Amino acid sequence: MALVTMRQLLDEAAKGGYGVGAFNVNNLEQVQAIMEAARETESPVIIQASRGARKYANDRFLYHLMEAATEVYPEISVALHQDHGNSPETCKSAIDLGFTSVMMDGSLMEDGKTPADFEYNVRVTREVVEMAHASGVTVEGELGTLGGIEDDVGSGEVNLTDPEQAEEFVERTGVDALAVAIGTSHGAYKFTKEPDREVLAMHIIEEINERLPTTHLVMHGSSSVPKELVDTINEYGGDIRPTWGVPVREIQEGIKHGVRKINVDTDLRLAATGAIRKAFAENPSEFDPRYYLKPAKAAMQEVVRARMEAFGQTGHAKDYDPISLPDMAVRYREQGHQLTVT
Ligand code: G3H
Ligand code: 13P
Ligand code: ZN
Repeated sequence: MALVTMRQLLDEAAKGGYGVGAFNVNNLEQVQAIMEAARETESPVIIQASRGARKYANDRFLYHLMEAATEVYPEISVALHQDHGNSPETCKSAIDLGFTSVMMDGSLMEDGKTPADFEYNVRVTREVVEMAHASGVTVEGELGTLGGIEDDVGSGEVNLTDPEQAEEFVERTGVDALAVAIGTSHGAYKFTKEPDREVLAMHIIEEINERLPTTHLVMHGSSSVPKELVDTINEYGGDIRPTWGVPVREIQEGIKHGVRKINVDTDLRLAATGAIRKAFAENPSEFDPRYYLKPAKAAMQEVVRARMEAFGQTGHAKDYDPISLPDMAVRYREQGHQLTVT
């Protein structure tokens, strides 16, 4: 059984000084592309599903896809994570479904759009920590808001994380991992030019890491939006405006300062779309879905492999034996929320 808690996976990453990509899934091809890249590079990995993904795929289908992944790739340590849980109820349903980690995004109200105040965020996040840790499940919280309004997640209002508040937030909630807002946003349109240190506030990560050296930091909106992927889409009839994402070298800087989980969704979407458009254009008479889904899968696998190498997680898949959820629950009970697993 290769299912691990995200807490163990991130503690190991901290020990090894690397980051772990958290890739979003909605369907079979995405799950397979990510797991193949993990096998190819012997990487531990986080697979995450948004509320939208759970609705699209149906919880039971998604659960069995994930279960199949752990069966087919038993040598890979994989954590199953709820991305952007909007309420304790959503997190509870993910735990009931078998996820080993949940994000309670209390930076926004339950609608996933309206910015929430600090006390609301502390209250709902603490509630999820109590519930999740009792089952050994890891919790990610978020402080500050991202810039984007795409994908039904985000207020459109940027509110960078305050390092002093981050310290209080972690102390009062007991979260295992903290998502920080440093100027990124979800989706393909993050920056209108290559981001410099003014728009991408990496210094916030450094400050938070100094105050909270044992808290695992999470970067959302971390797709790099590679020009070649955008160009392929446009070359074959797509219409993506000029845009910039988060440079991989900035993520690598973050990893030196406590970033352990890096969320990537858009880059896989771009890769799949470009490959499908190309396949359609090159052979308009084909109508077997396998004809265009196979290159889409290969293109996503290529992106995931490249990120795994850049984040330094390669070769670490078999470093440790998974601690079971009941054993993790005992550890939280005996050592408190801010335990050290490894
Ligand atoms: O949070 C953003 C992720 O990219 C998931 O997007 O809500 O469209 O599934 P989604
Ligand atoms: P991207 O849109 O940059 O891939 O971000 C994904 C994300 O943060 C999922 O929570
Ligand atoms: Zn996100």
